[in-house]
Amino acid sequence: MKSYQTDSINNLHKISVAPMMDCTDKHFRMIMRKISSRALLYTEMIVAQSLIYTKNKEKFLNYNSEEHPLSIQFGGDNPQILKEAAKLAQDWGYDEINFNVGCPSPRVCSGNFGASLMKNPTKVAKCIESLKSNCSLPVTIKHRIGVDQEDSFDKLNNFVKEVANAGADRFTVHARKAILKGLNPKQNRTIPPLKYEIVKKLKQMNPDLLIEVNGGFTNIYQCIKALNEFDGVMVGRSAYKYPLIWSEIDQIIYKDNKKIKKASEIIFSLIPYIENHLKNEGETWDICKHLINLVQNIPKAKIWRNNISSRSIKKELSIDYLIKMTSELKEMGF
Ligand SMILES: Cc1cc2nc3c(=O)[nH]c(=O)nc-3n(C[C@H](O)[C@H](O)[C@H](O)COP(=O)(O)O)c2cc1C
Repeated sequence: MKSYQTDSINNLHKISVAPMMDCTDKHFRMIMRKISSRALLYTEMIVAQSLIYTKNKEKFLNYNSEEHPLSIQFGGDNPQILKEAAKLAQDWGYDEINFNVGCPSPRVCSGNFGASLMKNPTKVAKCIESLKSNCSLPVTIKHRIGVDQEDSFDKLNNFVKEVANAGADRFTVHARKAILKGLNPKQNRTIPPLKYEIVKKLKQMNPDLLIEVNGGFTNIYQCIKALNEFDGVMVGRSAYKYPLIWSEIDQIIYKDNKKIKKASEIIFSLIPYIENHLKNEGETWDICKHLINLVQNIPKAKIWRNNISSRSIKKELSIDYLIKMTSELKEMGF
C-alpha cells in the first residue's frame, strides 16, 4: 500500500483527532473521515510488543483505505521491538507513527512506558531513533507537560530538545501534567490543571519545532485562536462525544469549498460501509456505538439514540430501520 503523500506534514497536523482507547477504532475513524477529509486521525494506542508477538497482526493494523491521513500510535519502551513495529506500520501504509509518552494508566506505566517514560528522556530519544531507523515515515511524539514532581519548565524543555535531536518530527503536548500515584487515567484528564502557557513558552523557546497543543478544546473557534500560537491542535473527547461540532474543519481550517454535511447525510453515506461490515460477520453495534453520537442537541435526540442503541445491542437493528430513522432526521432538517 502506498503512503498518503498529497499533504505535507505541516498541513496534516493543523487539526487532529486524538488517539483514544476504545473510541478511535476504525469505525469511529470512518465516521470522522466523513466529517473531515483533512483532519489527521490516530489509531488507539497499540502496544508495540503485543503487535510484534501476535500472529494476528491484521487485528491491530487493519484500517479502511478512506481513513488517510492516518497516524498509528505505539506504546512501548523497547527500541528493538519499536524498530520492528515501525517497519510494519510503513508496510501497512500508515502515514505517520506517533509514540505515546503521555498515557498515565497504571497498567501502561507499570510496564515502564507511557507517561512514566517522560522521566527518562534518553530512553525516549533511543525509542524515537529506533522508530526512525527502520522506516521513512514521520515519527511524532505525544506527551504531557510533566510527570509527578518532575514538572519544571526546564525539564520539559530539555526533554523536548533531546527528543528533537533524536529526530522527532512533531510534538503533541497535552497541556497538563500526569500524576502517576493517586489519580486514575480519567482523573488525569481532568484534575491536573490545563497550562497552555507552558506549551506556548515551549513553542516560543523552540520556534523551529512543530508543536501541537492538546487538552480541553471544545469548538473550532478555540482551535483557530490556538493556531495563531501553535502549529496544530489535537481534539479528543469533544470530537468523540460531539463529532458534528467539528463539521466545519475542512471549510474553516483548510478553506475547502464544499458543503457541510448534516447528520442524516453522514449516516446515509455510511450505510454501504455498515452493510459490508455485517457481511463480514460484524455487528451493527460495533459502528452504531459511535454513530449515535452524531445525533446530539436536536429535538428527541436522546430517543433517537436510545432507539438505535437498544435494537443494536440486542442485535435487532436492521439496515431498513436505520434508514427509516435517518430519513426522519432528514425530514426534520438534520
Ligand atoms: C477514553 C480515552 C482514551 C484515551 N486513550 C489514549 C490513547 O490510547 N493514547 C493517547 O495518547 N491518549 C489517549 N487519551 C488521551 C487523549 O488522546 C487526549 O490527550 C486527552 O483526552 C486530552 O484531550 P481532550 O481534552 O481534547 O480530550 C485517551 C483519552 C480518552 C478520553
